[in-house]
Amino acid sequence: MQHVRRHTIIVLLFLFAGWWAALNSGCGAPSYKQGENLYRTYCANCHMEDGSGLAQLIPPLASSDWLRDNQDTLPCIIYHGMSGPIIVNGIEFDGQMPSNKQLTPVLINNIINYINHAWGNDFGQADIRHTEAALEKCR
Ligand code: HEC
Repeated sequence: MQHVRRHTIIVLLFLFAGWWAALNSGCGAPSYKQGENLYRTYCANCHMEDGSGLAQLIPPLASSDWLRDNQDTLPCIIYHGMSGPIIVNGIEFDGQMPSNKQLTPVLINNIINYINHAWGNDFGQADIRHTEAALEKCR
């Protein structure tokens, strides 16, 4: 009897561990995964796979204070691109980032969630309703 109980508890623990693993990989991950693939396609050429940018030419996204502080305008930056002088982590950049008008709000939202969480960044979860509302104003 004692044995059967112990066995049941062990089986339950395994079930719980499986459920917990599924829960943790299930929800957030696919969107980051898609965001990561999109980042590789549309952004990594310039900003690099590791988000480090390129010297004085391309600003970094990893640990970027600009990225952290400009979450509201981010959807439009990705959609329209940007140019003109900006300061990122104390370094001035004056380059040109191309537009990405082929990207839908959902795809832009997934890219934001990826860059907000990649490379040790912790800049929060982008909400698709906020992203859509922001794009509404600049499209
Ligand atoms: C052709 C090169 C190029 C590509 C591709 C590109 N960017 Fe940029 N990006 C730049 C440059 C150059 C700047 C600085 C613009 C300026 O000086 O005003 C910039 C600035 C930024 C900034 C603000 C500054 C910072 O580093 O925090 C963000 C955020 C950003 N890019 C995200 C992206 C994302 C996301 C993608 C992909 C959807 C992307 N960029 C694609 C060149 C590029």
